[in-house]
Amino acid sequence: MFQKQILLPQDQIPRQWYNILADIKINPPLGPDGNPVKPEDLAPVFPMNLIEQEVSTERWIDIPEPVLDVLAMWRPSPLIRANAFEKALDTPARIYFKYEGVSPPGSHKPNTAVAQAYYNKVFGIENMTTETGAGQWGSALSFACSQFGLNCKVFMVRVSFDQKPYRKAMMEAWGGTCIASPSQETKAGRDALQRDPETPGSLGIAISEAIEAAVADTSGKTRYSLGSVLNHVLLHQTIIGLEARKQFGMIDAYPDIIIGCAGGGSNFAGLAFPFVYDKLSGRQVEIYPVEPKACPSMTRGPFVYDHGDTSGYTPLLPMHSLGHAFVPAPIHAGGLRYHGMAPTVSQLAEEGIIEPKSVGQLESYKAGVLWARTEGIIPAPETTNALAQVVKEAQRAKDEGREKIILVNFSGHGLLDLGAYAKYLAGELTDFALSDEEIERSTAITADYPRPERLKNV
Ligand SMILES: Cc1ncc(COP(=O)(O)O)c(C=O)c1O
Repeated sequence: MFQKQILLPQDQIPRQWYNILADIKINPPLGPDGNPVKPEDLAPVFPMNLIEQEVSTERWIDIPEPVLDVLAMWRPSPLIRANAFEKALDTPARIYFKYEGVSPPGSHKPNTAVAQAYYNKVFGIENMTTETGAGQWGSALSFACSQFGLNCKVFMVRVSFDQKPYRKAMMEAWGGTCIASPSQETKAGRDALQRDPETPGSLGIAISEAIEAAVADTSGKTRYSLGSVLNHVLLHQTIIGLEARKQFGMIDAYPDIIIGCAGGGSNFAGLAFPFVYDKLSGRQVEIYPVEPKACPSMTRGPFVYDHGDTSGYTPLLPMHSLGHAFVPAPIHAGGLRYHGMAPTVSQLAEEGIIEPKSVGQLESYKAGVLWARTEGIIPAPETTNALAQVVKEAQRAKDEGREKIILVNFSGHGLLDLGAYAKYLAGELTDFALSDEEIERSTAITADYPRPERLKNV
C-alpha cells in the first residue's frame, strides 16, 4: 500500500526542545529606561521558571515528564504525504504536511499551552490570563489549564469573537472564561473603545488587556501567558520540527522547501527552527514564513524596536513591525492579524536565512478549498496562507521540472471557521490591499525608538 502517513512511534517522541538562541544572537528587549530588560522586571507578568527559559542559551532543554504525558494524547503528530493535492496541481513536487490539527483544540497551540500551564502550576500560580485572535490559542490555554487545575481567562479579539461563537463555548467546556476585546474590564480596553467604539479589536489591544488583568491581581497568584512571539513559546513548538526531522529520516528523505504561515511566528518557527539549525551547519534548504498581504509585518514592515501590544505595556522587542497601534483589516485568518513578528524569526529574515512571503486572502481560500477537496481536511484560515505558498512552490517545481520535496506545517483544522468558508464559497470575501501611505503612517509610531543593532550570525 502507498505510504500516506509517516508515523513516529510514541517512544520516539523528542524529549528535549531545541533552543535557537544557542545558535543565533538577537538584540535584547529594552525596558522603559532604554536599557535591556532584566529577568526580575518580567516577574509580575510571567513565572520565573518561564523567564529563565526565555533568556536561556542552552541548545537543548528537557521537556518535563508531566508535559510529555499530556502531549502524548496526540503526539507525535503524523507527517502525511499530500499526494491527492499534488495530483490536482499536476506537479512533480512531493508535498508533505505535518498535521497539527490532531490536538484536542485543533491546532499547534497546545504544544506551548501545556508547557506554560505546567510551569505556572509548579511555580504556585492559580490563574492565567491571555488573549486570543482566532480563538485557537484561547482554546489551547483553556484546555491546558484544565489539565493542570488552573483558572483561565481569555480576552478574544472582537471580530473573531463575533465570527466564531463556538470557540467561546469550547473554552467554557474546558472551564475557561472568554470575553470580547476591547472590553470595559481594563483601562486598555476602555481606551480602545473610546478611540473607536466600533473597533474590530486587534491582538495588540487584547494583549494589553490580558497583561493588565494579570498584573492587577496583587495576590501574586495570577500570571499572563502569550501564545506566540516570545522565545520560550517558539522553543516549546520545536517539538514539531524535531519530530518531522525524525519522520523524514524514516523515509530516507529531507525537505528542499519548508513553509509555515506566520502570525507571531510560533508554528512556523516550531517546524522550521530544527531545520534552520541544519542550514546554519551548511545544509541546503529554502525556508519560507508566509503572512497575509493585509498584515505584512515581515515583507513590508521595518526591522525596529516596538512594543508587542497596543498600550505599550510590553518591553520594546527587536522585530519587524507595522507599528503597535496598527489595526489590520478584519481578514478571517484572525491568528495572522498581528502587527509584529517574533524577534528570532525577524532576525533570521533580516539575515536572509529565511525568506518571508505574503499571500492574498482569496488565493489562500482557493488553496484551502482545493485542499479540502483533495486531502479531505478543512484547513484553518491561517493554514490556508501556507497552502497558497505551497501551490506557488509546486508550480515552480513544475516549471523547473524538478521533484522537490515541500514540507508545510498544517497548523490547524478549520472546523470552527466554517462561517468564513461559507462566505468565501458565496463569493463574499475580498482581498485587502495596504497602501504605502498606510504603512508609513502606522510605522511612524516607532520613529523615536532606539534602533536594533545590525547583528550578523552568518
Ligand atoms: C491554526 C493557526 N495557525 C497559525 C496561527 C498563527 O500563529 P503563529 O504565527 O504563532 O503560529 C494561529 C494563531 O492563532 C492559528 O490558530
